[in-house]
Amino acid sequence: MIDQILAAKDSAVARLAAATSSDDVRAVELEVLGKKGSLTDLKAGLGKLATIEEKKQAGRALNEATTEVSAALAARLGEFRRSERAVQLEVERLDLTEVTRKPGRGHAHVVTQAWQRLEDAFIGLGFQVAEGPEVETDWYNFEALNMPANHPARSMHDTFYVDHGAPGSTVLRTHTSPVQIRVMQTTPPPIYMVMPGRVFRNETTDATHLAVFHQIEGLVIDRGITLADLAGTIESFTKAFFGEGFTSRLRPSYFPFTEPSAEFDIRTPKGNWLELGGCGMVHPNVLRAGGIDPEEFSGFAFGFGIDRMAKERHSINDVREMYTNDIRFLEQF
Ligand code: DAH
Repeated sequence: MIDQILAAKDSAVARLAAATSSDDVRAVELEVLGKKGSLTDLKAGLGKLATIEEKKQAGRALNEATTEVSAALAARLGEFRRSERAVQLEVERLDLTEVTRKPGRGHAHVVTQAWQRLEDAFIGLGFQVAEGPEVETDWYNFEALNMPANHPARSMHDTFYVDHGAPGSTVLRTHTSPVQIRVMQTTPPPIYMVMPGRVFRNETTDATHLAVFHQIEGLVIDRGITLADLAGTIESFTKAFFGEGFTSRLRPSYFPFTEPSAEFDIRTPKGNWLELGGCGMVHPNVLRAGGIDPEEFSGFAFGFGIDRMAKERHSINDVREMYTNDIRFLEQF
C-alpha cells in the first residue's frame, strides 16, 4: 500500500512538473485527489488493511502524499495564473493614447493672425493703434456718428441692448466706428489711427455672417485731407497687405457718418473683385461730436471686417468654422 501511495504521489508530482497550463494542473488534481482520483481510491482502501499499525502507517503516508501533492498543485497553479493573466492582459489591452506624437506647440487663432497682420500693415503706413469699449452708449454708437434716434440707417444695425441705465441707452457696439469719436475726444489732430475690435449684431448667423465678429476702423484727421488721400491710403494698404499684384477701387455709397461715402473693393491678380468695406470723408457733424472744428480740420475714415479678411485670405467657405474651435481645422492656418 505504501509503495502504491508513493508511486501515485511521485507520478502526480512528475506530471505537475511537466504541466504546461493551469488546465493541465487541474486535470492532475482531478486524477489524483478527485472523487475517483488515485490517492482518493487508496484512502478508501485503508479500511481493508489487516492491522491497526498498517492502517496508521498507510494513513500517515497518505496524508503526507496529499499534502505534498496539494502544495505542488497550488504552486504550479499560481505560476500559470500569473503568466496566463499577463497574456490575457496583453491580448485585451486597449490603446487609449489617441496621439502618439508629442503635443505640438499652439499658435495664434486664424482671426488673431489677420488682426495682427492688419495692425502691422497700418503701422507700416505710419498709423497708431487704439481700442475702445465693447459696451457702448447709444450716443457713441449712433448719435455722435450722425445717426440720431429714428434715423433709418439704425435699422441696418441689429442691436443687442444692455440692461443698464435708461432703456435703450446702452448697447453692445455694432461697429468699431464709435472708437473714432473717443479718439477725436482724447487726441488732438493730426490723427492717424486704426482701431481694431470685437463687434456685435443681433442677427442669425450663416456662412458669411456672425453675431460676434471683428472690424478694424481707420481714422485720419489733419489739415487739408482730401478724398485723394483716402483713395491713396486704401491703395497703399491694399498693396502692403495683399501684395503688389492687387489694386483697389472706390464705389459711391452711403453712410451717415461720412460725406461723401464709398465702398472699397480690391482686385485680385486673377482679376476678380472682393468687396472689402466702407469709407468716406468724415461728416462735419461727426467732427463736431468729437470736438474737432470742421472749418480747421478734415479727415477720412474707413472700416471693414477682420474675419472676412481671414476668410478670403484662406478661402474658408464658412466663417462659422473659425469659431467651432476644432483643432483639426484651426491647425491648418
Ligand atoms: N461702420 C460701418 C459698418 O459697420 C463700416 C464703415 C463704413 C466704417 C464707412 C467707416 C466708414 O469708418 O467710413 O458697416
